[in-house]
Amino acid sequence: MIAILDYGSQYSQLIARRIRECNVYCELLSHDLDLEKLKEKNLEGIILSGGPSSVYEEGAPSMDKAILESGVPVLGICYGMQLIVHLLGGKVEQESEKREYGTSTLTCDNDTPLFVHLPEELTAWMSHGDSCSKLPENFIQIAETSSIPHAAIMHKSKPVYGVQFHPEVTHTDFGMDIIKNFIFNICEAKPDWTMSHYIEQEINEIRSLVGSENVLLGLSGGVDSTTVAALMHRAIGDQLTCMFIDQGFMRKDEAKHIVTEISKYLKIRLVHIDASAIFFERLKGVSDPEEKRKIIGNEFITTFERESRKLGDYKFLAQGTLYPDVIESAVAGGTQAKTAVTIKTHHNVGGLPEKMNFKLIEPLRFLFKDEVRKLALELGVHNDLVFRHPFPGPGLAIRILGEVTESKVKTLQLADHILIEELRRSGWYDKSWQALAVLLPVKTVGVMGDMRTYAWTCAIRVVSSDDAMTAIWTRLPYELLDRISTRIVNEVPDINRVVYDITSKPPGTIEWE
Ligand code: XMP
Repeated sequence: MIAILDYGSQYSQLIARRIRECNVYCELLSHDLDLEKLKEKNLEGIILSGGPSSVYEEGAPSMDKAILESGVPVLGICYGMQLIVHLLGGKVEQESEKREYGTSTLTCDNDTPLFVHLPEELTAWMSHGDSCSKLPENFIQIAETSSIPHAAIMHKSKPVYGVQFHPEVTHTDFGMDIIKNFIFNICEAKPDWTMSHYIEQEINEIRSLVGSENVLLGLSGGVDSTTVAALMHRAIGDQLTCMFIDQGFMRKDEAKHIVTEISKYLKIRLVHIDASAIFFERLKGVSDPEEKRKIIGNEFITTFERESRKLGDYKFLAQGTLYPDVIESAVAGGTQAKTAVTIKTHHNVGGLPEKMNFKLIEPLRFLFKDEVRKLALELGVHNDLVFRHPFPGPGLAIRILGEVTESKVKTLQLADHILIEELRRSGWYDKSWQALAVLLPVKTVGVMGDMRTYAWTCAIRVVSSDDAMTAIWTRLPYELLDRISTRIVNEVPDINRVVYDITSKPPGTIEWE
């Protein structure tokens, strides 16, 4: 296992993903775990992430120095390298002419284990204000740029390395090779992190945890909860019951589709609750986005509680919590990171387990979204379900700006259906991360035939992304945009204007709310 100690870099998760891509298991952990605690984890090596602090500031996040003397391989990235230098008696300073943001040309010593098999010159991504001005004793420089001499360093006899640049980002040429050199040549980690291994491990764990008890799962139709359903079903069969609560804000025909498809592919016990009437009632007259979310969240919990009681006695609740959610709650803020113990108390269906005394099972808690998709395919979940775009819990309710009514949902369902159909037809559905239609509370004048119209405006948003943390608007062909717009205005009675959202994230979010 490779431990990544987090110092709050925006790239910390990316380091974890890169290592998992090499089929090596890793965890992103709090930087204040000591060597003893880390050694409990079948440790093969440690990476110190970057971070926004300066090592010489008071209260800057540090590490257990014993790690650096222990013989466990260590690679410090950016702040992580500066920390090694600082703790072992070298010097880190802020010198304005040595700051680097963006790409730099790196000249490296490819006779060293970290850079072996790499060209001597490569482009590296830099993002630092501080740099190392004096090496600690027994360290040597193994790469430089035109601005800084110590762009990468290594200990003369111990497996301790530091790089001032970011090998985990795609802007660094051969970044993946540098990571591989560290994890395979230096740490000698085994590439045994595969999905079939994961399935086997989780199934054993689920079985021993659950015994002969029953488990309830809230199914949304998204890839995460569907994958949990498939995995749980394989582990405990009929002891699993899935409940699908239809709040009334799904896509056109989606509720029906989910129930049929999932029961067809997974042959699980699925209870379908149509709670739409009560949700519409609760949202009457409400237009503030936060309030809408709160009402929907609370009503969801109330419905879940009421309906699950009717089903019988359940000790366990299974959830599709993913690793990024776990990290967010466990190491949020990086420098104020708590230990990984927090991980266990995280849950993403706010309030449910506490109120109902459920014990939680979160079999995806170590996985990133792309890994969940791999797992789903391995479990035989149908492609359509696996590669479905993400869809928010509160559904179309947050894509209708202002008050949500049944008739507005119907209008938006029609527009959304046309958008998705055209994207699928043209092959752009699979090339984009997410596509949405938003109903704006704006009426404008139009003309159709000889008639003056006065109807709603619909915004279309299609984005490309890897993880929804950042996104760029997708450059759809004009002809496709034209077809989508023409069809929506012609086929959806209450919409007479279509606009395309060309805002990236940041500064925009994906949903409009
Ligand atoms: P934003 O709008 O914050 O969205 O850029 C990022 C991603 O999260 C999805 N999203 C949600 N997913 N429950 C969910 O399960 C929610 O309440 C929710 N709100 C936003 C959004 O669709 C996008 O993929």
